[in-house]
Amino acid sequence: MRTQNDVELANSHNNTQIENNQSTVETLISRVLGVPEYLITDQLEYQSIMEWDSLGHISLLLALEKCYGLEILPEDRTLLTSVGAIKKYFDPDSSEAVKNGFNSEVIESSNKTLYRGLNGIAFDKTRISSIDGKNGHLHYRGYSIHDLVEQSHFEETAYLLLYGKMPTAKQLEDFDRELKNSRKIPPAMLDIISKLDRAHPIEVLRTVISAMAMYDEERNSSMFFKRRSIRLIAQIPTIIAAHLKLRSGQTIIEPSATLSHADNFLYMLHGTPPTKRVSSVFEKILILHADHGSNASAFAARVVASTNSDLYSSLTAAIATFAGELHGGAIEKVIGMIKEIGRPELAAAYVERQHAARKPVMGFGHRVYQTEDPRARHLREIAYNLSREGGEPLWFDILEAVVEAMKSYIGKGIDVNVDFYASVIYHLLSIPDDLFISVFAAGRLPGWIAQVQEQYDNNILIRPLLTYTGEKDLSYVPINKR
Ligand code: COA
Repeated sequence: MRTQNDVELANSHNNTQIENNQSTVETLISRVLGVPEYLITDQLEYQSIMEWDSLGHISLLLALEKCYGLEILPEDRTLLTSVGAIKKYFDPDSSEAVKNGFNSEVIESSNKTLYRGLNGIAFDKTRISSIDGKNGHLHYRGYSIHDLVEQSHFEETAYLLLYGKMPTAKQLEDFDRELKNSRKIPPAMLDIISKLDRAHPIEVLRTVISAMAMYDEERNSSMFFKRRSIRLIAQIPTIIAAHLKLRSGQTIIEPSATLSHADNFLYMLHGTPPTKRVSSVFEKILILHADHGSNASAFAARVVASTNSDLYSSLTAAIATFAGELHGGAIEKVIGMIKEIGRPELAAAYVERQHAARKPVMGFGHRVYQTEDPRARHLREIAYNLSREGGEPLWFDILEAVVEAMKSYIGKGIDVNVDFYASVIYHLLSIPDDLFISVFAAGRLPGWIAQVQEQYDNNILIRPLLTYTGEKDLSYVPINKR
């Protein structure tokens, strides 16, 4: 919530602007939404007219922020849903609204504040990742991903996430050795994988992680949390690769004891270690995937951890959540979309069809970013280079044609997300389409583990409310009288 000071400060900075705009909230709303000013009454509400849809709403909030030089805090955004509420919020004389806050207004009227999808709600503090959705920045433990992706490697970034600080050379050496020594999975787990040969790879991963708890007799002990974490990070690529081989009747490739994490992963998938070029690309991707704050999968992991359940249960929940197409599952959908489009000149028609069917274009949009996902910058460059170097420019050209066709959405804050370019990169790395989600999940593991650890370290049971809107005080009628 803005404080009175914020308002006064902003007002003094923007005096002229505000004076000019005092009677013009209506004008601004009318201009941004593209509706005549006579329609803009205090009672006009978000989604009551076609023009004030959620895209219009985002544009409106951005325009108001720009006009008044104020940042509308996430928790306030969902409250500015009528012309009257917006006028009150930005009226410099309306100190009461600012002092009491819209939240309390809502609480008084409904006894609970309802934030659908927990949109814009912070549920705890974190020291893992910080995301600036407005300006498109992402930091792990204070380090910009732009620096990490250029200068770090997966093992170091994983250490950073797990331990909270950069390792010394000795610490990294020990960490790396433990990862390398932990890659093999017990034969009993291979049996389970072989029985799941027809399942989708992400279902296999989810099931095997859940089953792994059986092989850890101390799973409820926090004493070996780090060792357990390292083992999980090391073994997930082995599980994914073993399933790939078993389902196609091939011999499993034993993990290498010397290759880096990224190289060993590709080696077990493809049978040969990657070239230096491919290795560096995959390393970057794993770093970019390593954490992303309290997204749906990390939140699910934290909800499970908050009940004092074990790490395997938390990760099972995280993977189950990640698999959905609105989250990590989008990466597999994007490659399907790119293949379906087939030629750059067909991208615009595809986007139009999706729009007409009110379906999202996969790889676009994000709950937190209102601008381009900062990871996309690196992924775009990698996709471009791989596509050109591999003599397959078509892939990148289709991606760019989709971006062009999405221009009007991009202007309204629906920009490319991490899955868009990553899907084509995976494809160009010869990773089978149905393995994309699992490979992404393998990269995300250090982040999920860090989230679970942080939840344990300062635990509080996560238990939100629902606002009941169903029928009340019904009389029970016996079944023979209904
Ligand atoms: N393509 C077209 N329109 C999109 C869109 C997309 N990818 N993403 C959002 N929109 C539109 C919605 O249709 C909606 O418009 P409407 O209110 O007029 O119907 C508006 O933008 C808000 O979308 P909504 O789904 O309510 O926002 P959200 O914050 O809940 O959704 C996602 C975020 C990620 C679920 C959503 O952007 C999406 O479905 N993206 C595609 C899947 C994807 O790539 N997921 C990976 C995310 S990293």
